[in-house]
Amino acid sequence: MRVDLALIGFGNVARRFVRLLDEQRHRLADDHALDYRIVGIATRRHGTTHQPDGLDAALAASHVEAGGRLDEIAAPRATDAFEVIAALATSTAPLRVVVETTTLDIENGRPAIDHVDAALASGCHVVTANKGPAAFAYGRLHATAEAAGLSFLFEGAVMDGVPIFNLVRETMPTAAVQRFRGIVNSTTNHILTALEDGEAFAPALARMQALGIAEADPSLDVDGWDAAAKAAALANVFMDAGITPHDVVREGLGPGTAERAREAKARGQRLRLIASGARGQRPSVALTELAPGDLLAGLSGQANALILTTDILDDIAICQLGGDLCHTAYALLSDLVTVRRRAGASG
Ligand SMILES: NC(=O)c1ccc[n+]([C@@H]2O[C@H](COP(=O)([O-])OP(=O)(O)OC[C@H]3O[C@@H](n4cnc5c(N)ncnc54)[C@H](OP(=O)(O)O)[C@@H]3O)[C@@H](O)[C@H]2O)c1
Repeated sequence: MRVDLALIGFGNVARRFVRLLDEQRHRLADDHALDYRIVGIATRRHGTTHQPDGLDAALAASHVEAGGRLDEIAAPRATDAFEVIAALATSTAPLRVVVETTTLDIENGRPAIDHVDAALASGCHVVTANKGPAAFAYGRLHATAEAAGLSFLFEGAVMDGVPIFNLVRETMPTAAVQRFRGIVNSTTNHILTALEDGEAFAPALARMQALGIAEADPSLDVDGWDAAAKAAALANVFMDAGITPHDVVREGLGPGTAERAREAKARGQRLRLIASGARGQRPSVALTELAPGDLLAGLSGQANALILTTDILDDIAICQLGGDLCHTAYALLSDLVTVRRRAGASG
């Protein structure tokens, strides 16, 4: 079955996604009967392109990485993200999917939410690694997608490619998540591990930026906003909380954090940024001293983990011992396969 894709956002994650799609092209075709074309790309400062017969995404990626603009490769037939989405909607492919990877906007989740709305309104499925839509508007977007018979999937929003939302949705029928508690931000966990070992803050952050793991605006990581957005998404999806990241009680790393981290380690404890939530309560993101026996205390560097407390299965822990861009790209790929599976044998 042919799937036409439009990439809204073409930064670190989307460019790695393009490479991963290419690497997995044969498995997608053989195991999932999924044959894709990328027909449109929209960025903020690197131009926009739409080619209804498919475009060379690898060429586009190398051109953008060299500082070029997409409209230098081929004359643009669409000039912004909304025109690219509208153009995708005219495709005759059985499946049309918008891949949303624009920058997280922590004020209100826009324009990512507007991109999702535009896609769903024009009959396109959505997969996204952006936390904004699920953190600010999950209930409404999920209902809109369901009513239209479309998918709105966002596995990459929390813990990259490690299945969190898929795990609960696909493999835990009737079980309800009552609480969650975890380390969900790689950048701050890496920094806290460096600080407790006596390293300085700036080089630890620079390493995360060099790997493309820190947010475009790293203060979103450091000030706890990224973790708050993830906590809001988890609460919205698992607990129908209907909140935004601004409803999360939030603490970030500050001037006294290095000393606290070193002192905690000297006492055999670990200082970690913990995101937690429970039904009927405001989620929180807080620097917390963990005893050595705490599962989360054992997580160093970029490692993440989430403990879900459920009504039937009690506590389930899922760990991500290392993370990189490929994992986030994989989340998009796995969501794409979910869209394909839901289409069944039709088309
Ligand atoms: N990096 C990770 O490890 C990771 C992990 C999980 C989730 N995420 C999420 O995935 C998303 C993408 O991350 P990234 O690392 O790829 O970010 P990035 O490298 O900063 O790329 C963001 C892309 O979005 C484009 N963009 C921004 N605003 C736009 C708009 N209004 N219309 C069209 N395009 C727009 C940018 O265009 P220009 O290049 O022209 O500015 C850029 O191509 C973010 O929401 C992030 O939170 C990232």
